[in-house]
Amino acid sequence: MLEQILEKESLTKDDLIYLMKLTKQDDLNKLYEKAYSIKEKYVGRKAYYRGLIEFSNRCVKNCYYCGIRSGNENVERFDMSGDEIIKMAKWAYENNYGSVTLQSGERQDKNFEKFVKDMILDIKKVSDGKLGLTLCLGEQTEDIYREWFEAGGHRYLLRIETTNEELYKVIHPDNNIHSFQKRVDCLKTLKKIGYQVGTGVMIGLPGQTEEDLVNDILFFEEMDIDMIGMGPYVVHKDTPLGKDVINNDLNTEEEKYKRFVLGLKMIAITRLYLKDVNIAATTALQALNPLGRELGLKAGANILMPIITIEEHREKYQLYDNKPCIDDNAEECKACLTGRVSSIGDIVGYGEWGDSPHFKRKN
Ligand code: 5AD
Ligand code: SF4
Repeated sequence: MLEQILEKESLTKDDLIYLMKLTKQDDLNKLYEKAYSIKEKYVGRKAYYRGLIEFSNRCVKNCYYCGIRSGNENVERFDMSGDEIIKMAKWAYENNYGSVTLQSGERQDKNFEKFVKDMILDIKKVSDGKLGLTLCLGEQTEDIYREWFEAGGHRYLLRIETTNEELYKVIHPDNNIHSFQKRVDCLKTLKKIGYQVGTGVMIGLPGQTEEDLVNDILFFEEMDIDMIGMGPYVVHKDTPLGKDVINNDLNTEEEKYKRFVLGLKMIAITRLYLKDVNIAATTALQALNPLGRELGLKAGANILMPIITIEEHREKYQLYDNKPCIDDNAEECKACLTGRVSSIGDIVGYGEWGDSPHFKRKN
């Protein structure tokens, strides 16, 4: 049965659910190997770096799972200065990274739009227009998205988090602030403007089923998504969801391992099904397993997001507990990741934007 499914040209929803329920290590290895061969054929054995600049941990949202949610009073809030951001972008450029990602909590304050626009223009300037630029700045108006696009941001990441709307409501408290439909509309707007659009989900949330995860993959297809960033849910102890999970004894080593494996399966099945999209091996995978990101690449991922945030601010940008690399600096992250990539026989796509072949095919 498994062999037949893996040889099929197009997979049905039932096939995807069958794959999502695999548990035997032998079967999982076959799934990962097949996904790796599809990766090789459609996107190549190259990992592209997106240097991650986490420039502010202020957020207007209050997601139940996230460590920097507005309701968490134990977080020291910070904003990097424009100079600090540009210094990091310059470092990325000088170190031959193809792109950087500007990420922060969701901000609606008045100066934010202009601040980001100036950053985009300055990053382009210090890199002679050569650094690729991904934005990950939450839900914004069409005008703002357009302004940032015109300034030079060309990819946008906005995770849908889960496509099970009931579950979405459970993990996002106030319907006035958090709306599933609004998020979907934002993704459509981003596409309309011309961004390469990325989305993703958290994997292994309490109450989430294998079918939910398959529906997530079908959503990526339906929305014609170019890039996917998804990773296992990782507990943050100062959050309502984290406390619930700990109290219900759902954060045992065994449960964490299950979430990790589910994370790898999601990568592999998404690669099998969507083939030519960019898929990130996220830091959350490594939070659950020291070899998480290598295994993610072996299961079909082709993007890595090394943190280049200056050391002083790293520990304040903790969405979940045990975030890896908090004590490292950008140089160490680069050396460490490059070692991880070559350990599995892939190479790093230095100096290249590494756009999603799925996006390039259409444009
Ligand atoms: N575990 C895993 N991922 C998380 N994120 C936020 N909190 C957690 C957590 N506890 C993810 C969300 C968000 C992205 C920036 O980080 O998916 O979109
Ligand atoms: Fe804010 Fe994103 Fe965290 Fe939600 S997940 S609280 S939007 S940073």
